[in-house]
Amino acid sequence: MNDMNITGGTQRQGEVILQVRDLVVAYGKAEVVHGVSFNVRGGEFVVILGRNGAGKSSTMQAMSGLIPKRGGSVRFRGEDLTQASAQAIVQAGLVHVLEGHRVFHALTVEENLMIGTWAGPKRGDRRLLERIYALFPELAERRNQPASRLSGGQQQILAVGAGVIAEPRLLVLDEPSAGLAPMVIERILSAVADLCRDGMAILLVEQMVETALRFADYGYLIETGRIAASGQAAEIRASEALRHVYLGRQDAPAEHA
Ligand SMILES: Nc1ncnc2c1ncn2[C@@H]1O[C@H](COP(=O)(O)OP(=O)(O)OP(=O)(O)O)[C@@H](O)[C@H]1O
Ligand SMILES: [Mg+2]
Repeated sequence: MNDMNITGGTQRQGEVILQVRDLVVAYGKAEVVHGVSFNVRGGEFVVILGRNGAGKSSTMQAMSGLIPKRGGSVRFRGEDLTQASAQAIVQAGLVHVLEGHRVFHALTVEENLMIGTWAGPKRGDRRLLERIYALFPELAERRNQPASRLSGGQQQILAVGAGVIAEPRLLVLDEPSAGLAPMVIERILSAVADLCRDGMAILLVEQMVETALRFADYGYLIETGRIAASGQAAEIRASEALRHVYLGRQDAPAEHA
């Protein structure tokens, strides 16, 4: 299926910093991503939407060098990172916050954040903490608590904070909303949108279509391992039919109560 571009001629702004082309991912004999292409421009907030099992996380993990690519290419800020290690990709400024608020439970909030600094050029610099504490005051209040004592929402905020602290050029967030209350989701996405306004490009993977499109500039819809549609966020939002056909799901706050 060809990518259905639903953008009515509106141009995206900025220079392309991430270019993923024809990405193929397979687990053994099972190919789950069948040639996915998308890009992110400098300072842009891009969302990748798609249902359970569509191949969103596989796409992101292959892009970040966490799982092998069966085909395709990844270019980031002028560099070909197709064969690069996960560590080299992080050092290039692409930081990926994995699905499922992964933090080090035995370590304190502050220790988790300090580990995050190692992904960036200012590794170990404690001055980076203050910006994160200003962005997420609940982390400042709990800086000396073990991460295991945080709620799920606070752990997700910590995971995002530990990604942001490295000051990446591109922050990838894989379903930060999973299992969280709507208010926490809003907080996380609005903090991320502020960072985007300050110049950090964002690539968000979400199932919360309505919410994600409110914050994003541009969106791609992925269905069974293929890009099914793409367009300006406002245009995807306006396209009711598309949302139903491709996602079959709307934000349902009751599920997250
Ligand atoms: N480690 C794995 N081994 C085998 N198959 C896998 C593995 N991880 C994912 N898959 C399969 O690959 C397909 C794509 O999964 P993926 O996790 O990329 O989807 P997703 O869009 O991120 O879904 P979700 O929204 O549930 O996180 C699914 O059919 C899934 O069952
Ligand atoms: Mg996933």
